Amino acid sequence: MRKKIVAGNWKMNKSWPEAKALAEGFTGRKDDIPVGVHVIIAPPSLYVQGLQHILPSSIAVATQNCSQHDSGAYTGEISAGMLHAMDVKYCIIGHSERRQYYGETNAIIREKVDACLRNNVAPIFCCGELLSERNAGEHFDTVSTQVKQALFHLTADQMAQVVIAYEPVWAIGTGVTASNEQAEEMHAFIRGVMAEYYTSAVADEISILYGGSVNAANAADLLACPNVDGGLVGGASLKVDDFMTIIQAAQ
Ligand code: PGA
Repeated sequence: MRKKIVAGNWKMNKSWPEAKALAEGFTGRKDDIPVGVHVIIAPPSLYVQGLQHILPSSIAVATQNCSQHDSGAYTGEISAGMLHAMDVKYCIIGHSERRQYYGETNAIIREKVDACLRNNVAPIFCCGELLSERNAGEHFDTVSTQVKQALFHLTADQMAQVVIAYEPVWAIGTGVTASNEQAEEMHAFIRGVMAEYYTSAVADEISILYGGSVNAANAADLLACPNVDGGLVGGASLKVDDFMTIIQAAQ
């Protein structure tokens, strides 16, 4: 059975006192997390260790990026081995903001996926099309190219450790979500591409999260789609009640 996962991407938000208060808020509600829903929080990297002392063990901590290299003269970077050493279980890789602002290509993202896997960190691999690509009818091509170029060199065993997040770029931080039909259609497509290259057993096991303006009001419908296994949540993960509502919707 594939996992239900709700992950919060805090991006570069919250002062340290605010971050601590938010984590304390989630800790106070830890008994409201449904059995079987895996909750992940990706704060700014500098806050990881401090928040690990506050969050319950039922909430895993992730980072929003890592280096493709294991060590060396890469000023400002953090390696996947360092994440593993600090008990970080997941790392978001290839978020559209990294692709857009930091020039991350499918080739770089592939190296980052590999770095995570060789260091026992599960990559949350992001894919998704631009609005112009959807309008031109190229969204399936874009997403399948992203998935194939970054992931299809992996063995089936390695693929089983990857979480995929479909995040249409036009839905991120815009308040516009994909419709339930658009999300389900793309998730089913991604699973189909996986089944074709690997096996349907591999495709069935992989968790595919939807991201892009998920909120407390739309989560229940989106997460009820058969191929949507959870959410990657930005803005709404910064509010305790909203994020808890989304977590409960994933049940
Ligand atoms: P959003 O961000 O929920 O604020 O749209 C999602 C994301 O970027 O992962």
